[in-house]
Amino acid sequence: MTHTKLPVFDESGYVIVDSYNQNADPREWENLVFVDWKSSGDTRFAPLASAYGDMECDGFWNHTPPKTDKDGVWVQENIDIAPILTARAQEVGANVGRCRVIELQPNTYADAVYNLHRDDNNRLNPEGTGWIVRSFCNLTADSDSVMILREDRDDPATEVRVPLPAGAQVVIDTQRLYHAVWHQGVVPRYCLITSYESGPALDSWISARNPVTGIDSPHLDPELMSAGNESAMSKRASREAASASMDSGMDSRMEVLSEA
Ligand SMILES: [Fe+2]
Repeated sequence: MTHTKLPVFDESGYVIVDSYNQNADPREWENLVFVDWKSSGDTRFAPLASAYGDMECDGFWNHTPPKTDKDGVWVQENIDIAPILTARAQEVGANVGRCRVIELQPNTYADAVYNLHRDDNNRLNPEGTGWIVRSFCNLTADSDSVMILREDRDDPATEVRVPLPAGAQVVIDTQRLYHAVWHQGVVPRYCLITSYESGPALDSWISARNPVTGIDSPHLDPELMSAGNESAMSKRASREAASASMDSGMDSRMEVLSEA
């Protein structure tokens, strides 16, 4: 038996749906309670749903009792501050695991390539139930920023760059695709990230929003791309050598890098 997956992800592992009219909404994220949580890049997080409703962002499997990334419990203080964001997360109708707003400071292409990682959403997820994927709803106007996706972390030829204007909505199988955001700008980027269980509700939500499973990436200077890849590969090699000497390895990093 395997997990239930949606066919729309078969081709590319991601699906872009119609943009949301973000500019019509108040900037609720500016009032949320953020907690420090080291992820891929310089980040903080504001949890809307956590493992047991506390103001924290740890992986659901790191709690007692441990659980998979489903059945998130709404964090009352933050959902009171952000009812519209909460309603958006809930409108899909699928089982919600983690739900949080990420704050990401500006970075470079090389930083983002270095930060490429896959999530561990389906740890403890029983076979026969829905595969957990993540939606990313960009809140701030970051038209020059992109979600970098790669099927093969070390092969730039597999790279797709999804632009992130305000209202952009993309659902990603983040356990399949390496991902990280290259955020250009001078102020932080904010994005609503929600874990959903694959099933009829998520399928219906996606199908009703003109899903697109492939795009032409915005142009990137080949020299910048090459230099960024070389920088990231070099840093990664140093890190892996250090990890090997500490006998910790990549698994521990995967636990930390759970968002983008
Ligand atoms: Fe991630």
